[in-house]
Amino acid sequence: MLKNINPTQTNAWSELQTLFANSSDMQISSLFSQDSNRFEQFSRQFNGELLVDFSKNLITEEIFNSLLKLAEEVDLSGAIKSQFSGETINVTENRAVLHTALRNRSNTPVIVDGVDVMPQVNKVLAQMKAFCAKVHSGEWKGYTGKRITDIVNIGIGGSDLGPYMVTEALSPYKVEGIQTHFVSNVDGTHIVETLAKVDPETTLFLIASKTFTTQETMTNANSARDWFLNFAQDEAHVAKHFAALSTNAQLVTEFGIDIENMFEFWDWVGGRYSLWSAIGLSIALTVGYDNFEALLEGAHEMDNHFAATEFKDNIPVILALIGIWYNNFHGAETETILPYDQYMHRFPAFFQQGNMESNGKCVDRNGDAVDYQTGPIIWGEPGTNGQHAFYQLIHQGTKLIPCDFIAPAVSHNPAGDHHAKLLSNFFAQTQALAFGKSKEQVEAEFVAAGKTLEEVQELVPFKVFDGNKPSNSILVNKITPKTLGQLIAMYEQKIFTQGVIWNIFSFDQWGVELGKQLAGQILPALNNNDKVDAHDSSTNGLINAWKAWK
Ligand code: F6P
Repeated sequence: MLKNINPTQTNAWSELQTLFANSSDMQISSLFSQDSNRFEQFSRQFNGELLVDFSKNLITEEIFNSLLKLAEEVDLSGAIKSQFSGETINVTENRAVLHTALRNRSNTPVIVDGVDVMPQVNKVLAQMKAFCAKVHSGEWKGYTGKRITDIVNIGIGGSDLGPYMVTEALSPYKVEGIQTHFVSNVDGTHIVETLAKVDPETTLFLIASKTFTTQETMTNANSARDWFLNFAQDEAHVAKHFAALSTNAQLVTEFGIDIENMFEFWDWVGGRYSLWSAIGLSIALTVGYDNFEALLEGAHEMDNHFAATEFKDNIPVILALIGIWYNNFHGAETETILPYDQYMHRFPAFFQQGNMESNGKCVDRNGDAVDYQTGPIIWGEPGTNGQHAFYQLIHQGTKLIPCDFIAPAVSHNPAGDHHAKLLSNFFAQTQALAFGKSKEQVEAEFVAAGKTLEEVQELVPFKVFDGNKPSNSILVNKITPKTLGQLIAMYEQKIFTQGVIWNIFSFDQWGVELGKQLAGQILPALNNNDKVDAHDSSTNGLINAWKAWK
């Protein structure tokens, strides 16, 4: 079981507080000039496929060692064992947390409640493989005998973001002849616009919902079913065009989906960690089952690294500790994820849920309010687009924003000098953030451009970059199914590590329930024209204004 240790009561925390208090004049530039081996000391390679450079951070060996000590003192090793061995670490929902079993390619037994879950995991994988083979070969036919050309995944949150992110990131691996669409928002625009692009005779709908109760998903699923039946005119044809990815067999059957077309997963798979489960069927159908397996393989490799590597060389642990240094000692409120890869454009959004739904908690494992910071705000966009949008604030604003830069060494589209230009920006940004541009450099540039210092005196302060802004650089050999699996698992285990240190429960998400409950209470009153007075004056005012305008 996870121990219940307040991180602020550890010796390491006090050490880190002292180190922080003494570090106000720390300069990344000085750290580099004092140590020609800094890159070697503060970078790690994984499998010859990932290089994680964390040298451009506001850390010294002493700080790094105290951070490692913090991980020891909160018994991170014990927590890792508890996770992988299927203990009930999701205490508030009374569940194990075993997305790692879904990608356990070594197939060693993983026991939950006395039962090895691996045979069930393998059974569903075999079902997914067989289904992909039928769809891709054309053996699986729509109700009029035509082969499937379009997949529509209907799901939200973890049942959408992961598969959508991965299918985009792995676009170069797409199976010919299959187009995949993702519908998540309950805004009718999303389903209406998508249905306008597909043909009922050749479309397969995947209703992706762990619970099969989520309002958005069930509303979209019902609209898709109505649209389909409007053409097909016979409920018997639903079986050829609808499949369910869910833990809830009863509701799947009640919806009218043949249980033969249900791909099961289990309550020990959290929604935001479910792309490795049957929820990944849209991935397997889009990029091929073998590539889906390679994704699992990559994640499994990272899991093995996380479980077996001492903390000083353990990449998810290192990234987690650096995050804690900024979040809890420097007072940073946000972190960015900046992929320099257009295909990875949904990666930050995916980890916005992964991180913020997991560690957005204010109560510790005792049920007491925490008096320290927990999960950061996660945001980001692909580079170089972000450079022309929000990087200004990262460079010269008043906030400390630690950044993760991610880039592939090899592009899937080696067009002209595009990739060299992309990577020159990737390298330059972390350099600019760390080292900035001094007053002397700005003045020298003006002089070189033929200006006198008197002329430009007033402009100089605006052109100075203080630098000293921290970042991690993650260079990936190439974005393949396997390396993408490694990257995703790396961030998942970073999030796990931070939750362990913050002494919170990372695998529930009670905070999303209140809004759902209130929407459920409000909805009936929206179906008539009566004036509403049951709420606060703002909510009443808004609803009544809407009724007047609609
Ligand atoms: O409301 C939040 C949430 O429960 C997420 O955790 C989850 O990924 C999403 O809704 C979708 O849930 P389901 O797969 O049960 O439809």
